[in-house]
Amino acid sequence: MTRSLEEHAQNWDLRHEDFGDNDLLYDVYTVMREKSPFAHTDAPFLFAKPEGAWVATRYAECYKILQDWEHFSSNPTPEGAEKLTGDMLVTLDPPRQQKFRKVLNPYFSPARMKALRPQIAAETDCLIDEFIEDGTGDLAQVAWRQPGIVFFKYVLGMPIDDVGLCIELTDTALNGDTEDARMAAWGGMYQHLHDAISARTSQPPQDDMIDVLLSAEIDGEKLSFADIVTNAMLLVQAGLETTASAMSFAFHYLATHPEDRDRLVREPDILPRAVEEFIRFAGSIHGLPRTIAKEVELSGHTFCPGDSVLVNFASANRDTAVFPDADRCILDRRDNRHLGFGAGVHRCLGSNLARLEFHVGLERVLARLPDYTPAPGGEAVFHGNSVTRGYRQIPVVFTRGRRCAA
Ligand code: HEM
Repeated sequence: MTRSLEEHAQNWDLRHEDFGDNDLLYDVYTVMREKSPFAHTDAPFLFAKPEGAWVATRYAECYKILQDWEHFSSNPTPEGAEKLTGDMLVTLDPPRQQKFRKVLNPYFSPARMKALRPQIAAETDCLIDEFIEDGTGDLAQVAWRQPGIVFFKYVLGMPIDDVGLCIELTDTALNGDTEDARMAAWGGMYQHLHDAISARTSQPPQDDMIDVLLSAEIDGEKLSFADIVTNAMLLVQAGLETTASAMSFAFHYLATHPEDRDRLVREPDILPRAVEEFIRFAGSIHGLPRTIAKEVELSGHTFCPGDSVLVNFASANRDTAVFPDADRCILDRRDNRHLGFGAGVHRCLGSNLARLEFHVGLERVLARLPDYTPAPGGEAVFHGNSVTRGYRQIPVVFTRGRRCAA
């Protein structure tokens, strides 16, 4: 560790090399929460200004900020909305943001997502089939590939042959080694979606997300082509890595906590609560920005127009003022009003899908590899970028089983 906890707490930098996995980071969050409601970071990331940003770390302030979109805007330039290219849901404020949601919400309804359960289970089983006969495998492969396959194949309705490439491009775009590699992958992804959506304008409807976007009307006007591609890109960014990181954390946690793994095998009824607890305990999102639109005071701090403030969802979810024994993962925790999916007008659009993928992922792995445990001599590899954090490699061993797909 190159800096003390206090030094980290004074100038939080999520990308700092000391944060090899989450343990130290959460100790830093504890110090940040104890010191004051708002910490500071000089490290600009996401939309934070070069001069840095305030960081909300306690549950109460995070919740208030998320509810108060009139002062804490999601538009990085609230004084000049027209400067943004394309209307992207997550950087819009009401009323336009709410009109967008009205168009997209029905697609992600619980009933509609539930109908995808058999396909999600079959895809997860295919991934497990790749190694189940060997008695050894990498569970990160299930966590990282399942949400991508489900999203590109069933939600977006991309041609099946493109799915592998789309997943690879998304991963490089978010985690590529260099800025150039990441930008090139985003460019490739944009072009790929652009071409797929263009092709669909002349094809019969397929009842998927591309169709929802193509037929959407707001105030009697169709969405522009740029808005459609931009929001398809947003769904890629928002839905894949978040779910994969959270699921990878759960697989690793259960490998290293066999008593909890056995409990979930014995008591599958608590899986829905366990999913919520994993999202609270190791939720994938650590900071997303808001920009001050009008001067406002919160918990004794005056924010000025143009200031950036990052909402630290992960820290809020470990606040002992709201969660008793917050640093323990309690599989059947009750009253779990975590902020892992956000709150207020921007609350996660895909939470029903994420929960389902996560639930089915755990259910299939525990049903088919109930005694899995870390592979002797194998090493779990953790990776964090400026938004999400999770395990990229989870080598495990288990009693061999049979493939279930032909
Ligand atoms: C465990 C997985 C996930 C986590 C932890 C997560 C978390 C979040 C959070 C915290 C927000 C609020 C952002 C803000 O307040 O600025 C959000 C918004 C959003 N999420 Fe998720 N998400 C997950 C999965 C998904 C999935 C699967 C999709 C879709 C395929 C999705 C699509 C979105 C979209 C489009 C928004 C923006 C909503 C808006 O601006 O109105 N998310 N998510």
